[in-house]
Amino acid sequence: MKSLVVYSSVTGNTRKLAEAAWDTLNGPKEIFPILEAPDPEGYDLIAVGFWLIAGKPDPKSAEYLAKIKPGQSLFLFATHGAACGSEHAENAMNHAKEIASKTKIVGTFSCQGEVSPAILKKAGSKPVPPVWLKDAPAAEGHPDSADIEALKKVVEGLQ
Ligand SMILES: Cc1cc2nc3c(=O)[nH]c(=O)nc-3n(C[C@H](O)[C@H](O)[C@H](O)COP(=O)(O)O)c2cc1C
Repeated sequence: MKSLVVYSSVTGNTRKLAEAAWDTLNGPKEIFPILEAPDPEGYDLIAVGFWLIAGKPDPKSAEYLAKIKPGQSLFLFATHGAACGSEHAENAMNHAKEIASKTKIVGTFSCQGEVSPAILKKAGSKPVPPVWLKDAPAAEGHPDSADIEALKKVVEGLQ
């Protein structure tokens, strides 16, 4: 089974999950940041990691997800400022699933990812602060070792 891990990450949170997923996968495997990612055709399992912006997968990830062929096995993972399991985070994961609705989604994982102080300040200064902002202070230090272990368990279960 040939696996491909592709991730989008500006501040490194999603990259941490991607590297842990890659470490856990058995067999031939490759890992790429999204801008260097190959065409997904020919891989038996594709894992795509994204971060949330405006309540959705970041645009580069969304674009890549749309390239995955019908029937290909896809594992989705994400980091966000919103709380784990929050409606905001679930909606974003559902959005990713919709983009890739013709693929075979074999699993998902998401957790909080630390939000930079500059972004916290900028988001907080908006007339209507985004819904995820109240959860964001608790994202500090995430993904942490417990998040990584939880992700690894999910990835182990795929094989
Ligand atoms: C411009 C910007 C917009 C963001 N919008 C959201 C959002 O809509 N919802 C959310 O939960 N987190 C949001 N975040 C937080 C990031 O998704 C989170 O910190 C993520 O872990 C960043 O991943 P990375 O370190 O891999 O880049 C935003 C962050 C930035 C920089």
